Amino acid sequence: MKKDPLHAILEEVRDSWGIRSPDDEHWQAKRRKTAGEYEWVLENLALKQSDKLLDIGCGTGLFLEYINEMVDTSIGIDISETMLKRASRNLAYKHNVSLLRSAAPLLPFCKPIFNKIVIVHAAFGVFIPNPHLWNIYNEDMMDLSADVIKNAFSLLLPYGVLVLTLAPGSEDVGEKVKQKLIPDAMKKAGIGTEDASVTTTVRKLESTYFALVRIEKKS
Ligand SMILES: C[S@@+](CC[C@H](N)C(=O)[O-])C[C@H]1O[C@@H](n2cnc3c(N)ncnc32)[C@H](O)[C@@H]1O
Repeated sequence: MKKDPLHAILEEVRDSWGIRSPDDEHWQAKRRKTAGEYEWVLENLALKQSDKLLDIGCGTGLFLEYINEMVDTSIGIDISETMLKRASRNLAYKHNVSLLRSAAPLLPFCKPIFNKIVIVHAAFGVFIPNPHLWNIYNEDMMDLSADVIKNAFSLLLPYGVLVLTLAPGSEDVGEKVKQKLIPDAMKKAGIGTEDASVTTTVRKLESTYFALVRIEKKS
């Protein structure tokens, strides 16, 4: 039976992450944390203890570990079994975190239940093609980004906040993310100014440029 395009892309994404070393990924995540990426996300989240937080593409769980004491409930989702195994080792003694294997935009929730959602450095290689995914990059993947945002946004409670970060690398590409890619993705996701306030910021952290998108649901 022929697979539908979404499942076919997600299988490729899963396989491309499945062959990467979780130890290397954990090391990269630590580097980004040191560079200030997590702190920047935190500034934009304004976490409250009672928040229910979802981390999409949680990888080896470093962000969940970082905010563990700050919220009562958090859930990490990742497409890769290998990354999740490493995450469950890192979070073994944290009793308020759950990990699930699932793929955005096909998340296993059907109504708004989260106040805060993050997609930290896991824009799935689609806003800006990730070198690991270049061989499969195509226009459908832009639709995947929009679907991921749409799906995440649908799970946000009123006044909830979705923060996503990505690494455009250079200031020019960062500006393109801000001026074009994010507005296009929001449009494709069907989220207008009446639904959400959206701000995109580009910042240099250590030697490279990052972009942070903050989407706050209006009601
Ligand atoms: C660069 S890592 C970032 C991990 C983590 N957020 C951090 O800050 O360290 C990207 C993660 O996204 C996951 N991922 C990629 N596409 C996904 C999808 N469609 N749904 C869920 N997870 C996905 C990968 O398996 C990988 O663990």
